[in-house]
Formats: sequence, structure tokens, C-alpha cells
Amino acid sequence: MSEIKTLFWKDNFLYILDQKKLPFKISYVKCKTYIDVARCIKNMVIRGAPAIGVSSGYGFALGLKNLSTKNYNDFICRVNKIAKNLVSTRPTAVNLFWAVERIRKYAIDIYNEKDNNIFEKVLLEAKKIHNEDIVCNTKISKTGAKLIKRDATILTHCNAGSLATSSVGTALGVIIEAYNQGKVKKVFVDETRPYLQGARLTMFELMKSGVPCELITDNMAGFVIKNRNVDYVIVGADRIARNGDTANKIGTYSLSILAKYHKIKFFVVAPTSTIDTSIEDGTKIPIEERSEEEVKYINKKLITLKGAQVYNPAFDITEAKNISAIITEKKVFTYPYKFLCF
Ligand code: MRU
Repeated sequence: MSEIKTLFWKDNFLYILDQKKLPFKISYVKCKTYIDVARCIKNMVIRGAPAIGVSSGYGFALGLKNLSTKNYNDFICRVNKIAKNLVSTRPTAVNLFWAVERIRKYAIDIYNEKDNNIFEKVLLEAKKIHNEDIVCNTKISKTGAKLIKRDATILTHCNAGSLATSSVGTALGVIIEAYNQGKVKKVFVDETRPYLQGARLTMFELMKSGVPCELITDNMAGFVIKNRNVDYVIVGADRIARNGDTANKIGTYSLSILAKYHKIKFFVVAPTSTIDTSIEDGTKIPIEERSEEEVKYINKKLITLKGAQVYNPAFDITEAKNISAIITEKKVFTYPYKFLCF
């Protein structure tokens, strides 16, 4: 899977793999401005918390290309405008806010040092964020795979694979590494309505990696956990509060309750950049609501009445007490979680 890059930088432009076209077509959107990058994030051409963070770093660099101003106030205005635009795209994944703020502060430092190479320096910082994500993914997958016993049957939700990150992924990185170590018998993949990240993206990644997998609709999870000897539910995260409450794709919370009821392990896998130590608990995490079209249409085909009212929260919160472990690049944390700083 790693040969298909989620995003890459070439000749001073950012190329983003169009995940809306997957699994049927591999094509890239060429981003020339930070507005192009913001549009890709908002429209989910690129998605997944770490990938959104990495792309926003490059987006910031594009915003500072051909910077002409020498005036401090104009510069600050520009930097803040870029940051505001990028973070206004999706509210839940904290990696976006983390990466944008890191670059914003860095750009101001460079300006204050009277360095004229702001674009070049910011681009290097964006590349650094990208590389850190790659290293982080590898560490997480190795650490997580150690927790998986032989002959494991695993259920996963949404897509927390290479498409959601810069490298092997988080939850899927652990699953694929464990499979490569000969420990995984089968993976059940929730289709993940309404955007179908499981059916379109996770199945694509697992099948390419040769991992035995079966696609199920989301409402089959309880039956499958009960009757198919599922040992683990393994998912990614979009934001983790100080107490370990975790925002992830809608449907994750229900899976955590199923896992608890059936006394199986429920693992959250994420880089520490997904942990928001400024937020006390999950009630403070903003939950994105997306358009009604995502629920009312499948492949542009209306599946309900045109006038049907729709509620479409994109994420839910899994309480920390339902999470057996949070696997990060630094260490494996277990309940009770008390994340203070990183
Ligand atoms: O709406 P999405 O597709 O961006 O949501 C993605 C998820 O919920 C993932 O599980 C999460 O970001 C972890 S990605 C490594």
C-alpha cells in the first residue's frame, strides 16, 4: 500500500490523492494555493486526522509562497488569515489545529529573526511534520502489534490506515504489522456509513496488503462480535481529551459498548499529536455535523424521500473507561488516563 502516497510535494505544489475516487480510480488533485488545500480537507478529498494535519502544514507553506510584504502587521494578518482558513475546514480532528498552530508560530519566529527565506523555512517545517508522522506510524504499529495474540480476529471501523496518515497508518498499521508477524486470522471491516471509509478505503488497503478481511455493514457488528470470536476492536482517533475520552468516527462509541459487554479488548491507536491536553474531557470536543446529502444519497442516488430531515454527526465520543488501551508512539497507556503534556 505504501507505494500509493496519500500526498506528496513536487515542484513547489502539493499533490493530494483524491480519496473520493477510491477504490476505483487513483488520481491526484494539484494544490497551488492554501485555499485549494483547505477545500480538499473540507470536501474530504483528504481525510483522517494525521493526514489532515500533514496537508495543512504544506497548505500553510503554499500560503506563504511569493510573500511580498515587509510590513510586520501585514505579515501577521496574512499568517492569521491562512491559519483561520485552514482550521475552519473541519472542527474535530485536533491534528489540524496542532499542525497549523505549530507552523503559524514558527513562521512568526522566522519573520522576527529577519530571515527572508520564510517560505523555504516553513516548507521545511511542513516536511518535518510529514516525516515525524511517518516515523510515528512505524513506531505505533510495532508497539501495537506486540499486544496482539496469535490467531486474532479483529474488527475495525472507518479508515485509520495509510490513507489517513503519511505511512502505514495507526489502527490499520497495528493490524497489518500483526498480520505480517503471522498473528492475524481475520479482520472484519465496518462499511462505516455514511461516507463508507471502511468499504472504500480500509478494504482497499487490507486487500492490497493480502490481509484476510470481510466487509460488514455497521449494524452487523454486534452479531459478528458475538458469533465470530472477535478478540479485539481496534480503531483510530480524531481527538483524545486529557482524561482519555476519545472522538472518532461515528459508530465507535457503540462498538466500545459492544466490546465491554462481550469482554473483549477495545484499543484506540493514535499519535500523541491527537491528544488535546487543553481539553478536560470528551464533552468539550466539538463534533462536526456534515451535510444531509451524505446520508440521503449513495453514489449520487437518492435513497430516501427528497424532503427527509437528516441528522449527520461525523464523530462520537467513546468514554475513557470503555478503552482498554491507547496505543501511541511514546507508550501504551491504560485506564485511568491522565494526559498532562507531551
Ligand atoms: O471523517 P474522517 O474520514 O476524516 O474520519 C477519520 C476517522 O475517524 C479516523 O478513524 C481517525 O481520523 C483516525 S485516522 C488515523
